[in-house]
Amino acid sequence: MNAADKKRAAATAALEFIEPGVTLGVGTGSTVNFLIDMLPTIRNRIFRIVSSSKASTALLEELGFEISTLNDAGAIDLYIDGADESNKRLQLIKGGGGALTREKVLAGAARRFICIVDDAKLVGMLGSFPLPIEVIPMAQELVARRLVKLRGQPIWRNDFVTDNGNHILDIHNLQITNPLEMEARINKIPGVVSVGIFADRPADILLIGGDDGVREMRV
Ligand code: 5RP
Repeated sequence: MNAADKKRAAATAALEFIEPGVTLGVGTGSTVNFLIDMLPTIRNRIFRIVSSSKASTALLEELGFEISTLNDAGAIDLYIDGADESNKRLQLIKGGGGALTREKVLAGAARRFICIVDDAKLVGMLGSFPLPIEVIPMAQELVARRLVKLRGQPIWRNDFVTDNGNHILDIHNLQITNPLEMEARINKIPGVVSVGIFADRPADILLIGGDDGVREMRV
């Protein structure tokens, strides 16, 4: 099975968790795109949809879904999203697609967060995947200088502007031994909008697509 088949399998397994009357939060990325493609098959179960990015909104609207804002929806019953890495505690690195801030807002607003991944995303320690950080443009230099102290290599994502009008700094070669502590530390730097470590709000359920089907992990 290739990575795309594994992602599709994890997305298919997530459909089972979508109950009638749900207010559904939809993440961003290639794994979630498989889920979005399948949502019309369970359209009657969905009460409201809130989207984490302009890209996912465009795909959902093409399929005829009307998108609610989080402010209108109030709360989210179930948020489904992919990840770039997950450890066994279901703490994640997200933001490879640059949508980390809205994704973090929706994960934080959700009663349940299901993360869908292929098996290459499960790691012993977070940090091999470059850690995305969304930064307000006027604070770029300040934030980069502060982040050098973390011993990773900060590299600005070229020609990329987030849905919120900000930039992304990717920190390469980190060894994130304490995700909770590092998330809090980076969040404190003035000018950081959000960091792609999801440890304070990890996933509740991880669905991992692999050669032998889909494995479920919970904390
Ligand atoms: C986007 C994300 C994605 O969930 C993450 O990058 C995984 O993407 P993919 O499903 O394409 O592997 O955080 O900001």
